[in-house]
Amino acid sequence: MHRFILIAFALLICLPAAQAAHHEEDEEKTPLGEEMSAMNKAWRQLKKDIADPAKNEGSLKLLDQMMQTTLNSTDMIPVLAEDLPEDDQAAFLHAYQEEMEELMKELAILETFLGAGDNTMAQKLIKQIDDQKKKGHKEFKPKDD
Ligand code: HEM
Repeated sequence: MHRFILIAFALLICLPAAQAAHHEEDEEKTPLGEEMSAMNKAWRQLKKDIADPAKNEGSLKLLDQMMQTTLNSTDMIPVLAEDLPEDDQAAFLHAYQEEMEELMKELAILETFLGAGDNTMAQKLIKQIDDQKKKGHKEFKPKDD
């Protein structure tokens, strides 16, 4: 009986994790979603390393990747645009591109700070860019992902 309870308990714990992994594999990413995932990987590492001047060389490389994915993303169409009436799509896309250009500008400033070895300012700007990301997602990304 003890054993049964243990097995049942183990299953209870493992099942949601297995389902989540399966769900992630199943989920089809849009081309923009792929770019965003790549951006996210670089961003997370950059956030970990940003305070450390000894890591600036690597941080600049990560920043390069971010800028490239941001450029690629600017030319793509968010999946939300498909849900909008045709008349509203151009304005939506224009606002999206402007927000991406803003991100690009901030990344370029971050590059200047890192190049100059100013990790204090770089840290401050990272927070601002995170807010930019939140704003972009609120406006242009579907609510459920
Ligand atoms: C540091 C900056 C950013 C990071 C790290 C980031 C990261 C991500 C991630 C992880 C996803 C989910 C991808 C998936 O699994 O499908 C995503 C989706 C998305 N992001 Fe970002 N993002 C950033 C900035 C922005 C900005 C500034 C905008 C808008 C101007 C934006 C617009 C979107 C949109 C529209 C999607 C949904 C994908 C689609 O419509 O096909 N993101 N982002």
